[in-house]
Parts: sequence; structure tokens; C-alpha cells
Amino acid sequence: MCGIAGYLGPHNADQILLVALERLKYRGYDSAGMALLDQGKIVVRKAAGTLEHLAQKLITEPAAGHAGIAHTRWATHGAPTEINSHPHQSSAGRVAVVHNGIIENHDALRKELQATGVVFRSQTDTEVIPHLIAQAYAHTADAGGDPLLAVRAVIPRLTGSFAFAVIFADFPERIIAVRQGSPLLIGRGPEAMMLASDIPALLPHADHVLHLDDGHLADVTHTGVEISTFAGAPVTATFARIEISADAVTKGSFDSFMAKEIAEQPTVLERLLASRIQVLAGCDHLVMPDLGVDLATVRHVTFIACVTSWHAALLAKRFIEHLAGIPVEVEVASEYRYRKPLAIPGGLAVAISQSGETADTLASVRLAKRLGLPVIALVNVMSSTIARESSGVMPLFAGPEIGVASTKAYTAQVLALYLFALQLAKAKGLLTPSAEASILEDLRTLPDQVRNTLAGCENAVSEAAALFAPADASVFLGRLGEHPTALEGALKLKEIAYIHANGYPAGEFKHGPIALVTAHLPVICLCPHDEAYEKMLSNLQEVRARHGRLIGVGHADDHHLHDLCDHVFPIERARAKALQPILSILPLQRYAYHVAKRRGCNVDQPRNLAKSVTVE
Ligand code: M6R
Repeated sequence: MCGIAGYLGPHNADQILLVALERLKYRGYDSAGMALLDQGKIVVRKAAGTLEHLAQKLITEPAAGHAGIAHTRWATHGAPTEINSHPHQSSAGRVAVVHNGIIENHDALRKELQATGVVFRSQTDTEVIPHLIAQAYAHTADAGGDPLLAVRAVIPRLTGSFAFAVIFADFPERIIAVRQGSPLLIGRGPEAMMLASDIPALLPHADHVLHLDDGHLADVTHTGVEISTFAGAPVTATFARIEISADAVTKGSFDSFMAKEIAEQPTVLERLLASRIQVLAGCDHLVMPDLGVDLATVRHVTFIACVTSWHAALLAKRFIEHLAGIPVEVEVASEYRYRKPLAIPGGLAVAISQSGETADTLASVRLAKRLGLPVIALVNVMSSTIARESSGVMPLFAGPEIGVASTKAYTAQVLALYLFALQLAKAKGLLTPSAEASILEDLRTLPDQVRNTLAGCENAVSEAAALFAPADASVFLGRLGEHPTALEGALKLKEIAYIHANGYPAGEFKHGPIALVTAHLPVICLCPHDEAYEKMLSNLQEVRARHGRLIGVGHADDHHLHDLCDHVFPIERARAKALQPILSILPLQRYAYHVAKRRGCNVDQPRNLAKSVTVE
């Protein structure tokens, strides 16, 4: 899991590649590097640590060249040191490679290369690639040196999932890019060609994009690209216009992507609703994408997802069981893929993934397909591998989510899953037109309720964050629909503020976790007026009796809450009641953000994490 980029154009490549890496930082950010082609030589600059270290190095040791490749790393094989940073080079430095993914047979290849006298500089799996390519290239010397032939000869030797880009000192105007299991895009602009792991890194130099398929190789020059299969059969290069604006991938007036993405939630939900509600004869109707599955025949649903997307799936279980009367299982993808699951007749698998690239979810999608289940996907990145491998796709329309902690994608997932539950209910004949119109009318108020809740909770949240930022643990309690909120709230605090936090179904608290309560432990209780409200009041009493520090998330006019809690984070009463958890999570996102800021943490790039986990 890393980000790769490449540039061929009229300008010096270093600053352009730095910006591209900045946009890929969400994929890994423990070290970075680039290699530029400069008058028959490859010039490499690398630095451990943040991208700023590489930028600094380029000031003290400038590098020239109008073509180059670059990399931002999330370490898997070997510590995040300068030596282990990409690009990696062949022994004579005439071939350089940047790689995203894992070469599973690197150990055997390393031994084989060492036996031929190759001396390795790094501990990475990647370094075998430039050495193998250099050896294969030497074998093409009689034909005058053929880089394409050399790369093609090496690919079948590599096992695993990879996307890599190669440059040769002998070919100053050429980048060869290969995709097998990890994303890789080619960008075309009026005066430059680019390549990258994700669209934002292509901006603003490219206005068209081509999604390289697995098993394909791109031979990129200043003037264009030739695509072929690994075996050498030509493939037509089909570019599509890039719809994302450069503004969507900058922080704008915000101090972080996380703050921007939290604030974007009302607009994201509005956009999603606009795409799914149509007014016909003065009435709201649900319109959904064709999922390639006859939903009327579905008798069982299995959700497959990781972490935040899994929390959204927990809510989807409630929505579907209540609205469509279909039993639902929610599976953690990393377990599902190994636990030999059964395929239930009439079953449908639904993969949820913001990025659409999460390795465990992707492997589960492939497994579900092998089990004979139809698979549909809910993704934010429509060009992602999970979207491409599923029979139907529900888009999220959340726009690029760059902060590593998922916020706007989560609330969009919850809304999209609710709409999916309505679609299932409709297909089963369980949703009358008047009920449909009335639910959709309620949903239309949701974006404004999100807006009001974000504004209304801010003071209380920042005050509590100031007080509790030093606490080294926190507990989150919720019941029914607010149990996933408790899990998600705890996750946000762990991820970005590095505070040990756990979410529990509040009824379980007395069975063990209550032992944690002291006068120093913040206990955050989700108490909107739902069917579990009275039970939550009992939980508040139990914590209060043991002198825990109580934060209640509930309605501003709830006097019980104000009486029992040290702090209250006010939230609106959702008109679409089932979607109350969308409002409840908002103060917890802001709480995690404020606490993290006070603790001096980087909220966009928390330590040890990366945005999309494309390795096991
Ligand atoms: O892209 P995905 O939704 O498949 O990602 C799943 C998880 O990696 C993701 O939810 C991750 O835990 C985020 N850091 C949550 O904030």
C-alpha cells in the first residue's frame, strides 16, 4: 500500500511529482522518493519521514529532468528508512522502479539474484524488480536493447499483487507501467502524460484518464501511450474525461482534510439524495442504479466490509431486516475470506468499501463469487477494483476522501444503505407508494439537520475536548442503532488521537467493562430519544454512581441528560428516525478532531495508518 506517480512533459518533473505525491499521501506517508531522467542518467532523491523531508532534500540537492517516477511509502518489507524508500535501482543504476503492492516470491528471487552476484541495498520486496529487469534488458542487447521486452520477460516471474513503473537511463522519454492487482491510471493532458495510483495525483496536468486493467502494460512517452497485454497483444487505449476538479483535492480554507470532509457532509448527502430521488407527478420516487440482480428473489444478504464500512453495514442490517424482512449477516472481510462461509440459496453479497481497493474486502468479493453469490458493491471510487469486479455498483458520490479517518464516506454509506433497504422493500412489495413518498420527504430534511447539528454541537464539543484531551482512555456506549455509532466514535478517537477507546453495546457494560470506570474515565453515552433511551438513562446512572465523567450525546431539551451528564453534545431529532445515527456520529467526529489537535496529532495522516489497505 503506497502511492506511485510518473510524469513526462515540458516542465522539470520534480515539483510536479511532489504535488502528485502530496495527493497520494493518504496511501502511505512514512518515506518518499523520486527518480528523474537527466541526459542519459537516472538521478534519485529519497528521504525517510514525511514528504516535507523529500521537498527539503530537493532544495539542497536539486534534480533536473522532464521525465520521472515517484513514490510515497507505507512500509511493509523493511523499516521506513531512506535506503528502503523507493525508487529502487539496478546495481549499475540504469533501471529504476517504483512499486505499489507486494511481491510474494521476493525471497526466492532475491536468493536467485544473489547467487548471480547481485548485491541488495534494501530489505524491500521491490528491489528484486529492477535487478531482474536489468538482467533481462542485458539479454536484449543484441537487438539494441528493448525495455519492453525486458519488462515482459520479468512479469511472469513475479507473484503477488503489484503496480509498478520503470524508467531506463537509455530511454529518457519513456516510462513503462504495469498493473496486476493494484490500481494504476494513465493521465493525458494537453502537454504532458502522467501516471498515478489515483486520479487526484494527475491533476491539473491531465484532463483525461485511462484505467489500466490487470494484466496490461502501458508504454508511455511524451506524445501518448500504447497499451498491451503482458503477452504483447495490443489493447485499444480508451481515455475518459476527468470529472474531479483540482479544488476537490485541496483543503481550501480548512486546516485539514478531515475538517473539510466533516463540513462537507450536508452537501454530500444532498448530492446522494438528488441522485436517488425523482419527482414524478408531484411525488418523490426512489430511483436506484441497476444492480444486475433481481432483488425480489433475494432471501438473505451478507455484508462484507472492514472497520468503518463494517460499522455502516451493522446499521444496514437493521434497515434491511426492519424494512424488507430479509435476514442479514454482517461479516468482517478479513474473517469471511478465511472462514469457509456457506452460500445460502437466494443469497446476495454486498461489499462496502469507500476506496474499493481494500485487499480483504476484494478477496471476500472474489470468494463470494466463487461460492455462486451475486455480488454488488457500495463504493466511493467508481473506477476501483471492487466496483469493476462486482455485478452491480451503488455509487456514494462523496467526492475524494483524503483524510485517513473516514467521515463523510461513513455518513454517505449509511444513507446509501438505507436507500438500498428501501429498494429491497420496494422489490418485495413491502413499500407502498405513499410510505415511499413520506419517507423520502423526511430524508430531504436530513442534510439541513446535519448542518444544524454540526453548528449546534461545536461549542460543547470543543469545551469537552479541551478538558478530556489528556485522558488516556475513553469508553463509548450505545444501544441498537447507536451501538455502531459507539464503535465508530471510539475508532475515530483511536485513529487520530491515539487514545485507547472502546465502543460497547451499553447493555454489555455491566458485565465487565464497567470495572474500568474511575473519576478520570470519560464515558460517552449515545442517548437520543429512541427505543433504547430509558435503558441508556440506567447506564448513565450506573456510571455516575461510580464517579465516571459523563458525556451525553442527545437532544438539547433533554433535562435528564443535562442533570446526569457533565457535558451534553446536542444533536437534532432526525425526522427519518432510522437515520438518527447519522446525526449522532457528527459530534463524535468533531470531538476526535479537537482532541487530536490538542494532543498535537496529525489528523489527516495518523501514525502507522494509510487510507486504503491494499495489503493483508
Ligand atoms: O476503503 P474501505 O472502506 O474498504 O476501508 C476500510 C477501512 O480500512 C477504513 O474504514 C479505515 O479503517 C479508516 N481508517 C476508518 O476511518
